[in-house]
Parts: sequence; C-alpha cells; structure tokens
Amino acid sequence: MTRTGGFRWPWPDVPMEMLLRQARTAAARAYAPYSRFSVGAALLTSDGGIILGCNVENASYGLTICAERNAVFAMVASGRLDPVAIAVTGGDASAPCPPCGACRQVLAEFNPDMYVVLESPGKTIVMRVSELLPLSFSLTGEKF
Ligand code: THU
Repeated sequence: MTRTGGFRWPWPDVPMEMLLRQARTAAARAYAPYSRFSVGAALLTSDGGIILGCNVENASYGLTICAERNAVFAMVASGRLDPVAIAVTGGDASAPCPPCGACRQVLAEFNPDMYVVLESPGKTIVMRVSELLPLSFSLTGEKF
C-alpha cells in the first residue's frame, strides 16, 4: 500500500526524506562489484538514532549480505533492539527496491509494525513489515 494524503509520518524530527537521504549515503558505500547493484538502508530506532547498512558482496556469491540485514545487525551491535522504520534505496532508484524475503523475516524479528520507506520516482512508498510479510515465521505460530 502506498500511503498518501491522510498518512502522517509519526516522527516529525526525522522526516522520511531525511531517512531516504541517509539510505542514499549508505548505498554509495555499498561493496557490489559483482552485481553493480548498490543498496542502502537507514534504520530509525525509537530514540531517534539512525543506523546505516549497505550490501556487501563476495567473490563466493552466496556469502553476499543485503543492506537491510547489515543495518539490523549493526543496530543490535550498537545495543539497540527497537527499530521503528527503515528506508531503502537501490540501483539507480528508477524503481522501488523492496527488501528481499530473508530481510523481511529479519526485520519482522524486531518489529513487524516497522515502517519500510521505499524510494521511487515521483513518490515515496511506505508500508509496514507485516504488510510485506504477513505470516512471518515464529516458534509459536502466533500469527495464525
Ligand atoms: N540486495 C540487498 O542489499 N537488499 C535486498 O533486499 C535485495 C538485494 C543486494 C544483494 C546483492 O548485493 C544485490 O542487491 C543484487 O542482488
């Protein structure tokens, strides 16, 4: 769902555009010599902290890690477990770059209500993780 009109971003001190700008900064640091597809993620925590992640590829292709997971893992390493939003941009930003399935599961681990902000030409797309992954895996199956 694209939120337009009535949708109010809950964090006026950190506008969506600011978070997307940080994601672009992270994308510029991507290590993606194989796909040449740079992805950047900027994760907002409930205290207003912003943590960046970029994709890091490897000559052994399967070892590549996505930008979103790197941002989440950096958040945990920095002592925070409370993400409220994540902005993602990828490639030349001519199309939205939604998190892959594996990253959705990792995002859902910390906050299924988290907002995902996607850059796209002419509009900003905002969805919740639970919309992108409605029935995420859990040990208790509580979503059924
Ligand atoms: N990639 C991400 O960083 N995030 C995603 O959600 C999907 C894909 C990266 C992995 C790889 O380095 C490049 O994009 C092309 O697949």
